Amino acid sequence: MKNTDSRSHLQGKSIYLDDIPELQGTLYGLVFDSPVAHAKNIKLDYSEAEKLDGVIKILTYKDIPGENQIGAIIPDEELFAENEVHFIGQPIALIVAETERIARDAKKLIKFEAEELPAITDTKIAKERGHFIAPPRTFKIGDLEEGRKKSKYIIKGTSETGGQEHLYLETQGAYAVPKENESITLYSSTQGANSVQKITSEILDISMNKIEVDVNRLGGGFGGKEDQATPWAAMVSLAAFILKKPVKMVLARHDDMRMTGKRHPYTAEYTLGLSEDLKIQFYDVEFIQDGGASADLSPAITERTLFHATGTYFIPNTEITVFSCKTNTLPNTAFRGFGGPQAFFAIDAAMQQAADEIGVDVRKLQFKNLIKENNEFPYGQIATQVEATKCWEAADKLFSIEKQYKEVKDFNTKNTKFKKGISITPLCFGISFTNTMMNHARALVHIYQDGSVGISTGAVEMGQGVNTKMKQVATHVFGISIDKIKLETTNTTRVANASPTAASSGADLNGKAVEIACNELLARLKNTAAEIIDTNSNKIEIKDEFVFNNGKKTDLSWNKLVEAAFVNRVKLSEKGHYVTPEIRFDKSIEKGHPFAYHVYGTAITTAIVDTMRGTYDIESVDIVHDFGKSMNLFLDKGQIEGALIQGIGWVTMEEIRFDEKGRLLSNSLSSYKVPDINSVPKSVKVEALETEGHKHAILKSKAVGEPPFIYGQGAYFAIQDAIKAFNPNYKSDYIAPMTHEKVLMGLYQ
Ligand code: MTE
Ligand code: HPA
Ligand code: MOS
Repeated sequence: MKNTDSRSHLQGKSIYLDDIPELQGTLYGLVFDSPVAHAKNIKLDYSEAEKLDGVIKILTYKDIPGENQIGAIIPDEELFAENEVHFIGQPIALIVAETERIARDAKKLIKFEAEELPAITDTKIAKERGHFIAPPRTFKIGDLEEGRKKSKYIIKGTSETGGQEHLYLETQGAYAVPKENESITLYSSTQGANSVQKITSEILDISMNKIEVDVNRLGGGFGGKEDQATPWAAMVSLAAFILKKPVKMVLARHDDMRMTGKRHPYTAEYTLGLSEDLKIQFYDVEFIQDGGASADLSPAITERTLFHATGTYFIPNTEITVFSCKTNTLPNTAFRGFGGPQAFFAIDAAMQQAADEIGVDVRKLQFKNLIKENNEFPYGQIATQVEATKCWEAADKLFSIEKQYKEVKDFNTKNTKFKKGISITPLCFGISFTNTMMNHARALVHIYQDGSVGISTGAVEMGQGVNTKMKQVATHVFGISIDKIKLETTNTTRVANASPTAASSGADLNGKAVEIACNELLARLKNTAAEIIDTNSNKIEIKDEFVFNNGKKTDLSWNKLVEAAFVNRVKLSEKGHYVTPEIRFDKSIEKGHPFAYHVYGTAITTAIVDTMRGTYDIESVDIVHDFGKSMNLFLDKGQIEGALIQGIGWVTMEEIRFDEKGRLLSNSLSSYKVPDINSVPKSVKVEALETEGHKHAILKSKAVGEPPFIYGQGAYFAIQDAIKAFNPNYKSDYIAPMTHEKVLMGLYQ
């Protein structure tokens, strides 16, 4: 089954926020943001701007009826800066005008004055001075000293990964329409309709039931709209609330890049110990995370780094600490993998360094230490249904690992102008929000009297295909065609208190809720059918839109059955509520069972480097992935490919840079390079591991959104492998991204 949106996407008929027809009298918002990274006693003179023809009003913190606060985890972020600013791009005021053009002209007339303060853009300095988002957190298992005693090889090193711009095709935006009795309908391009509703209600000091947030679909979110879609929605709501007019704001790409947070840059300092037989004995690692100027989701992202610090390996003695630092840069936020990729990079850098220092092939180290059945993760969960070794072995069988290594070696003995490299990336990613209380969802299913079905869930469609999966769940339960089913918008009035569509768990959580609601309705319809046919309801089945009695097709169609149920006054609407079973976590001891299950995989990556220019191509990526029993291999493979390329971009060409004054230099598509059609791997092969699937996954089909992002890091290690083939003196600094400049310097180091 294809993505049911594909046709309208292709025809340009899909509706995004900016496609919503505007009501007469709609006004436009534009943010005035801080031109300096750190200052106090800010003064804004907007008298000239307000006089400009077509400017309706300029709003600041003084206009907020409620609390000027948008921090969801830690209340440390103002919607509009009051006295201090903490990063360039921090919103200070909202210009509301008849057109966006007028608002832009008005912006130039605003005078900003402030006492500038020194800006910290370096996490090392932030750490030294104790500028933290939250106190550091540590996960521990076993005893490092025990591990040290058993180790023959002890490897010390550092690694570093950079930030990443989400670059969703649709920029941030929102449209607020005032309704009667001080209520608001709020269209938002958000992954978290409920958080938009909650924060906006606090800003306006009105109750949540007065704000209806509606989301049709996003042109991509990738985590960037989990928390950071909220301020724009709150701002237009504030303006609509005060002016009693519809107000809209869609960020220009430049403004979006300048004002929104990115993936967290991390540095890691590690010590890895291995015994003589190359078993990892201990891992001692300290991460420094660049949180930016306010907390945003950093504490939750910190947590996922802690959970994934040991990667796909079993390490009996481990100590992991994350310092989340406060700097005068954009508040960094969720991005596919959510702190996981940064942890995976560090452990595989340590493994590579260990292999080089010991003088063995890194794949031997990796394979030997893969996590196995009943091993304990540092957070206390016991690994079950582990597929790490099976994925590796399947990859070997399908894609001949040793043969590929030999081919690379042979190529390199024959060529000097080009060198090839190869790497293997194993994967083990935990599924569930790490915050246990977020793992629940609801769905509302109506069967209309004509037999058609309408489904509302808390899930947001952002290109990942969750709507298609929801329809599949309903067709599966009801035995009816997908054409009979409509996925409604994500709307807080129909489905309340939903968690954001994030943590790759959108399909699982919402799909299970749909399944529950559909099963309730099915049971009722079966009773009606049994009455009509005069049989027992447990003999009834519905397939291909017909009722089957004891396996035999009857002439009672779905449509006739629904009509009969309606006439019999049967309830044809149902709400499903799903709570992930088993999961728990005790923060006081940092132990528990936080994940419903894990997703596994293995990727083999080969790269070719031009030894004169330092340029490179990713030649091939061969993947064996644990989809469970994929309910839609077409969509799921699309997710693998997308995540892979996004991951490759992160470790190769995407480079976020600030100058020492905290100004973002990579602030446009001419200075920030992302993978395009010419830089994707020449060959990507994805094979599904044969497995039973997991009972907590929707229809046994495992979550797929974020985990394959990890495969991308294979590009870094494959390129590095090629550099080593040319320059035996090359010593890696394990700093990503591996830009062409960096490769060139590495070749002639
Ligand atoms: N795929 C597309 N096309 N667009 C997106 O924005 N976001 C990713 C992933 N795949 C994203 C995507 C992220 S960060 C997450 S958490 C999941 O989709 C969310 O959707 P799911 O929970 O339904 O997998
Ligand atoms: N993953 C992704 N997004 C989240 C999480 C998580 O574990 N927790 C809160 N938002
Ligand atoms: Mo995804 S980073 O959990 O939105």
